[in-house]
Amino acid sequence: MNKISLQTWITVLLMSALLATTAYARTKYVGNEVCIQCHKKEGLSWSKRSHANAFESLKAGKRTVAKKRAGLDPDKDYTTDKLCLRCHTTGYRKPGGFRNEKSSPKMKGVGCEACHGAGSKYKKLHDEKPTFTKEEAKAAGELYADNDPTMCKDCHINKDQIFTEKLDKKYKYDYLEAIKNRKGLHEKFKKKYGFGF
Ligand code: HEC
Ligand code: HEC
Ligand code: HEC
Ligand code: HEC
Repeated sequence: MNKISLQTWITVLLMSALLATTAYARTKYVGNEVCIQCHKKEGLSWSKRSHANAFESLKAGKRTVAKKRAGLDPDKDYTTDKLCLRCHTTGYRKPGGFRNEKSSPKMKGVGCEACHGAGSKYKKLHDEKPTFTKEEAKAAGELYADNDPTMCKDCHINKDQIFTEKLDKKYKYDYLEAIKNRKGLHEKFKKKYGFGF
């Protein structure tokens, strides 16, 4: 390989790396309110269940019995603990995602985009082309339950998860069962166009 072609290669590689980063950076978390504008029923149902309130569990004096059992300090405020925030907020430290309670209060808890994926691109698709295909939605960053529980596993099947089956059988995590009985999840509603999931 001569010198010029090597330089050209390096330039091409740098350019594509740059393009890839900008494309990635452009997918942002937009917040629950944006989704709820169109998905009111799911929004209401979600707001009453435990994912929506996951941030509250980190506060001092909340869930004290459970915390003691797990060896956590029930009087400690865990709302600034980086480890806990990863799973008890939405898009922690990612563009548009949770940073701290003051700057991004709307991203507290496990919101729509924690499961469905950062929404800046696919919400446009939902808005402008409601007859979108699953492939289009996936390409725009939307996550689907399918048979592969990618939506849930980062938080639920993770070595840093404290409340597991080992602590108490009630914490046994069964993805298919959870989707079926919808404990913690919003109810399932009929879709207008009826495709996708
Ligand atoms: C961003 C992390 C995150 C994602 C993604 C996530 N969860 Fe959770 N989940 C949590 C946290 C945190 C709690 C505990 C909430 C609390 O009580 O504070 C929880 C609680 C639960 C519970 C117990 C609910 C209850 O009320 O007893 C079930 C069941 C559950 N999740 C299922 C799922 C399923 C199924 C998915 C995927 C479709 C999923 N979760 C995605 C973090 C997550
Ligand atoms: C890897 C993800 C993850 C991390 C990290 C994490 N949690 Fe959780 N947390 C969960 C999930 C998932 C549940 C739901 C367990 C269930 O109900 O099955 C949960 C549940 C809880 C609960 C509710 C338990 C109950 O029975 O009411 C508390 C309190 C809690 N976590 C506190 C914390 C604290 C404090 C930290 C940091 C020291 C932390 N978590 C770190 C994922 C996580
Ligand atoms: C804990 C994960 C989780 C969270 C948080 C979540 N969803 Fe879902 N959502 C799902 C799963 C899983 C399905 C697929 C339903 C199925 O196949 O049973 C779904 C399905 C849907 C559907 C399809 C129609 C329906 O009712 O099933 C819409 C629309 C939707 N969610 C919107 C939202 C909105 C809006 C929010 C926030 C207010 C949200 N979701 C929060 C997991 C989640
Ligand atoms: C401007 C309105 C609008 C906004 C904003 C919007 N959606 Fe949708 N969404 C739709 C429409 C229309 C459909 C088509 C499905 C149907 O009702 O048949 C849909 C479908 C869905 C589905 C299930 C169908 C599928 O296969 O993908 C999910 C999940 C969903 N939206 C989640 C979200 C989330 C999460 C957000 C926020 C990031 C969001 N939507 C923002 C209008 C919207």
